[in-house]
Amino acid sequence: MIPIKSSMKVLLAGGSGLIGTALGRALAGAGHPTRRLVRRPPSAAGEFQWDPAGRRMDPAALVGIDAVVNLSGENIGAGRWTAARCDRIFRSRVDATRTLVDAIQQAKARPSVFVCASATGYYGDRGDEILTEKSALGQGFLPGVCLAWETHAGGAAAAGVRTALLRFGVVVAREGGALARMIPVFRLGLGGRLGSGCQWMPWIGSDDVVRAIMHVLAGPRCEGPYNVTSPRPVTNAEFTRALASALGRRARLPVPVWALRLALGRMADEALLASTRATPDRLSREGFVFKHPAIENAISHALQRRAV
Ligand SMILES: NC(=O)c1ccc[n+]([C@@H]2O[C@H](COP(=O)([O-])OP(=O)(O)OC[C@H]3O[C@@H](n4cnc5c(N)ncnc54)[C@H](OP(=O)(O)O)[C@@H]3O)[C@@H](O)[C@H]2O)c1
Repeated sequence: MIPIKSSMKVLLAGGSGLIGTALGRALAGAGHPTRRLVRRPPSAAGEFQWDPAGRRMDPAALVGIDAVVNLSGENIGAGRWTAARCDRIFRSRVDATRTLVDAIQQAKARPSVFVCASATGYYGDRGDEILTEKSALGQGFLPGVCLAWETHAGGAAAAGVRTALLRFGVVVAREGGALARMIPVFRLGLGGRLGSGCQWMPWIGSDDVVRAIMHVLAGPRCEGPYNVTSPRPVTNAEFTRALASALGRRARLPVPVWALRLALGRMADEALLASTRATPDRLSREGFVFKHPAIENAISHALQRRAV
């Protein structure tokens, strides 16, 4: 991991979310001052208001900022993908990214780096194919969202700002996201693989996701797409076994595909049944050492953390 050498002033968008909260804490702990963009009226020091849907942002937020990290977007896993929800998932990412990029382009002094979230959903459903950052875009709704997100982020690169696009896998954290939704079900002994369970599931430990963002912030040559995933992707069946075992339960009840489709609509096929064997080719080649490369360790570590 490349260390951030001197103090870096970072502006976070989507800083209240799962990744943003952990990143903000880690940056503060390492002595890097942070500011947050908030959609409500600011209520604390370091908060600046923006309205990404209306493409408005307080320009003062960027003054003196070295790095901007964009983690904002309507939560993808929070419910059934209705047409209205899909629209919010797409628009929230595009609008937030365009608002930030416009502000960066208009700033008198631009930040030196823009880090923008994306997702391994970029690659879509690809069976057993090993997917690196050089692999082609997949087909479907999520690849379309990621393409639009990354394309708009590219406006910062066009303005001469080093821009990194982080294609996150599923973050294994107790505080939120997929694992937090699965734990209660598994605790009741009702967990099971999804469909055949053969689909590859890219994932990343909660400490490593923050460490990877810090690495990219620090590295003067870190730009373009990065798969932020463990070097050891697992199938859904392997993930299911690891979670059940960590909770001391058995996972005997596979969830049938028809039930997933009935409950979740197209989210079932695109987010839960799609097979995406993404590998962190660039991070590995840059010498990034993962703290939790194995799913068993990452899950145990997540479960040991105090729930917040
Ligand atoms: N966690 C994962 O497993 C994972 C995997 C792949 C990709 N990602 C992507 O990485 C980014 C950060 O992930 P996360 O897990 O931290 O997400 P999260 O917990 O859902 O937080 C996202 C943040 O975005 C802001 N937000 C929510 N709805 C919004 C809307 N309609 N318009 C604009 N902003 C909105 C909120 O922050 P404010 O209220 O402070 O504005 C929220 O805290 C997301 O874009 C996510 O899609 C995450």
